[in-house]
Amino acid sequence: MKIIKAEHAGFCFGVERAVGIVENASTIYENVVTLGPIIHNPQLVNKLKEKGVLPVESTGDVEKKHTVIIRSHGITKDNYNFLKEKDVNIIDATCPFVIKAHKSAMNLSKEGYTVVVFGEKEHPEVKGIVSYVEGEYYLISSKEEAEQLPFKEKYGVVAQTTQNGEYFKNVVDVIKEKCNELKVVNTICNATTYRQEAAKAVAKQVDMMIIVGGKNSGNTRRLYEICKEICKNSIHIETKDELDEKMFENIEKVGITAGASTPDYLINDVINYLEEVGNARKCKKQ
Ligand code: F3S
Repeated sequence: MKIIKAEHAGFCFGVERAVGIVENASTIYENVVTLGPIIHNPQLVNKLKEKGVLPVESTGDVEKKHTVIIRSHGITKDNYNFLKEKDVNIIDATCPFVIKAHKSAMNLSKEGYTVVVFGEKEHPEVKGIVSYVEGEYYLISSKEEAEQLPFKEKYGVVAQTTQNGEYFKNVVDVIKEKCNELKVVNTICNATTYRQEAAKAVAKQVDMMIIVGGKNSGNTRRLYEICKEICKNSIHIETKDELDEKMFENIEKVGITAGASTPDYLINDVINYLEEVGNARKCKKQ
């Protein structure tokens, strides 16, 4: 059985940076907390708990004794100010690309554009982006919702960093017809685009595609949807334990990719498992 690992599978720059910041902080400070799980990966969050780093649900749970780490998704402007006022030790691990989205949303509104944010409505990153808009805005998550937008003089559009580039383009095409002036800041980060393109390239070549990552990870789920469109036999798993030898009975080529929040060791576990299955099959044939 041939195993093809897609390029750019796993941790992106921002997540790697954030996890590094947390690990480093856990060796320097006591009472380290992260505002929400540092990444959407339960296995890694549990490992960090063993090192004493606990996720707290909201800014209200942060106490004076805590060193609080802001995760790569960022937080809302109000929450940031709330922490500042509490005078706790803040370590900001917001990804620089997310900060770019915050600034773009803010600048567009300052320039008089009605801002459209394209993203998942309940996603913390999107809540953060929206909080930096200083005027009127719309939050949309589909082309259909773009079609419902009212006509405006000037629309300024930004996206959640992990959105699909093609969907964003479709949404922008719709908004173009809804205003006299359009300014688009493409805030989708390259890590996502590269990972999605590499996954597509592999999905085209294989009989089965495995997408590794947290079930609560939006970018992993999107990766799964993209692969599934190309390779019907695509599955989304968190760990190798969800695999079974029988799944690979008629499989000659299997592809593997992983979301931005999937640690390397979980990807390698899956690859090792697949190699074992392949080797066992070879032995049976001999
Ligand atoms: Fe940053 Fe892009 Fe990752 S925005 S957190 S590098 S997916």
